[in-house]
Amino acid sequence: MKALVLAGGTGTRLRPITHSSAKQLVPIANRPVLFHVLQDVADADIKEVGVVVGGTADQIRAAVEDDDSVNLDITYIPQEEPLGLAHAVLLARDFLGDDDFVMYLGDNYLRGGITDLVAEFRRDRPTAQLLLARADDPGDFGVAELDASGRVVGLEEKPAAPKGDHVVVGVYLFTPAVHEAVRAISPSWRGELEITHAVQWLIDRGADVRSTTHSGYWKDTGNVAALLDANRVALESVEPLVAGDVDPATELVGRVRIAEGAVVRGSRIVGPVAVGAGTVITGCRVGPYTAIAERCHIEDSTIEFSIVLPGSSITGVSRIEASLIGRHVEVTPADPAQAPAPAAHRLVLGDHCKVQISS
Ligand code: TTP
Repeated sequence: MKALVLAGGTGTRLRPITHSSAKQLVPIANRPVLFHVLQDVADADIKEVGVVVGGTADQIRAAVEDDDSVNLDITYIPQEEPLGLAHAVLLARDFLGDDDFVMYLGDNYLRGGITDLVAEFRRDRPTAQLLLARADDPGDFGVAELDASGRVVGLEEKPAAPKGDHVVVGVYLFTPAVHEAVRAISPSWRGELEITHAVQWLIDRGADVRSTTHSGYWKDTGNVAALLDANRVALESVEPLVAGDVDPATELVGRVRIAEGAVVRGSRIVGPVAVGAGTVITGCRVGPYTAIAERCHIEDSTIEFSIVLPGSSITGVSRIEASLIGRHVEVTPADPAQAPAPAAHRLVLGDHCKVQISS
């Protein structure tokens, strides 16, 4: 059995972060979401992994090669344009050969992994098996129609009138029968070869398409709100550790992970919080639900329920919350001597930034 991990795409919903980096490398609990996916694959005892990569191929490859936490045999499969999930399967034909495989979207975060699902598929070996979850707002997702035994009898993408509340999570198991399906379908209205159409093609030909309903947490981390929520949940299970240099004037409360090489002075850190290596925090209140990546500088500021990416600095900001701050960003108060008016903001923002100002 092999795995096909999808780490291409455009990530428009996560701009501006995705103007300069891959969305699958945005860290949740200070670990790229892609690494959580690769860990799940390794835990399911799958060694051979094809990673589909697009415009951010070099970054993905460098990050994966730099990380020695997961030991997998990885083949990179370039996709010149993000022409859909079924297109990725088409491209991976040679890599996949005649093996069964699990397809896992590289921006999905799943608590509990895929080990049980993969074992169930290996045992029963239906033509395909979909991982589903129950949603309160099924119309925002791909919705699976099930019969009484849990077999999938139909799939609809973002239906106005959903036939049930089981939605498709980004993990699919296939036998090689899927290859004929992805060759047979045509692009959808959005110009993509849709994996839901390929699965529907199999269902229409009487294939045994089964489902497993995931009862734990699951998130497609494709937008900021989802990413912050996945970060919140991931932080709740980080191993507490104080490997960095924390002075006696600092108070650590709850689940806090301070990496080796981080320095914390005169601060109150309220977990769950993760602080990356080389980060310096002075005179701050950080947390809960906050991940500060490596090499950041946070001073005289308050930050909660947020993600800060590597190399950023925040100084003298009274309160930041529900924020995603990119790499090498600087946030400071305006210099009163230079600001044109007392409550004025001075902003240098790239394309597609979103700023919400409280005053
Ligand atoms: P999506 O989130 O559906 O697509 P996207 O990355 O283009 O994002 P947006 O909608 O914000 O523009 O993709 C799910 C996962 O599959 C993600 O990890 C990217 C990957 N993917 C590919 O590798 N190739 C593709 O052709 C597509 C559409 C997605």
